[in-house]
Amino acid sequence: MTQNELIQALPKAELHVHIEGTFEPELMFAIAQRNGVAIPYQNIDEVKAAYQFHNLQSFLDIYYAGANVLLQQQDFYDLAWAYFERCAADRVVHTEIFFDPQTHTDRGVAFATVINGLQAACDDAKSKLGISSHLIMSFLRHLSEEAAFATLEQALPYQSQIIAVGLDSSELGHPPSKFARVFAKARELGFLVVAHAGEEGPPEYVWEALDVLKVNRIDHGVRAEEDAHLMQRLIADKMPLTVCPLSNLKLCVVNDMAQHNIQRLLKQGVQVTVNSDDPAYFGGYVNANFTTIAEALQLSADEIKQLAANSFESAFISAEDKQYWL
Ligand code: HPA
Ligand code: ZN
Repeated sequence: MTQNELIQALPKAELHVHIEGTFEPELMFAIAQRNGVAIPYQNIDEVKAAYQFHNLQSFLDIYYAGANVLLQQQDFYDLAWAYFERCAADRVVHTEIFFDPQTHTDRGVAFATVINGLQAACDDAKSKLGISSHLIMSFLRHLSEEAAFATLEQALPYQSQIIAVGLDSSELGHPPSKFARVFAKARELGFLVVAHAGEEGPPEYVWEALDVLKVNRIDHGVRAEEDAHLMQRLIADKMPLTVCPLSNLKLCVVNDMAQHNIQRLLKQGVQVTVNSDDPAYFGGYVNANFTTIAEALQLSADEIKQLAANSFESAFISAEDKQYWL
């Protein structure tokens, strides 16, 4: 069996994907047309040509613009359903999906429209494709603490459909501690908590995610390697890092995939996983992330199997479900 065949055959969980980041240009055009919304591109090639990023912010500007065409419940359903079809093709059997309600509610789209569309697709993924899923509601960290509190309030009627809260968007200048009180409230309400930290931000942001937000997982976290004490902490706590290799390359967090630190982190005993982040923008879904690092870093079959096992180990699923896939 070749490495790529092994990657294709292994059951995997995805733990770091933004549903708005799975918006393929073809679907974006179709939804823009049926909603009568103008987009600043003439055709698919023009869209793809615009996807040249030099840092996180240059991506976020285009990502938020793309999400503007999403208006109806059916739009959110179609977006999520298209992603689930990609999961099926990649043998992703469980996925934990971020959604950014503020990206939509700030445009006048109701919270209910967003979550009802996503939930209907999650239900169909289970019944038609056998894929299990959870939703993670992510706060936009460039917005205020007050706005995050208002979003948490809006989520309460849907709490049973939301496993965790997260923190994404522009990292630099918006440390996790800005949201200490919102996360404390979310934990008190019974949500699990995760946060993007150490993607562009320094190791101090990862410390804050651990000690102030008390996260159950770190999203990205690759800059933790710069702090030996932090590395010891992550290893001792078996703290999962949801690493996104193609994202790191496209956003210039690393300059060359051969330099990516995921294999070093794995060898040192950090519980790293492989994820796609925003696959429509970064050039590939879960298996493309695996095959790209397998080739660039010469991963062994055992390392590939460990990464897939880590995805279930790190998932918000029962011990029985972990056992089933491991
Ligand atoms: N980082 C921060 N915010 C995001 C990302 C990311 O990689 N993707 C979508 N929102
Ligand atoms: Zn992300």
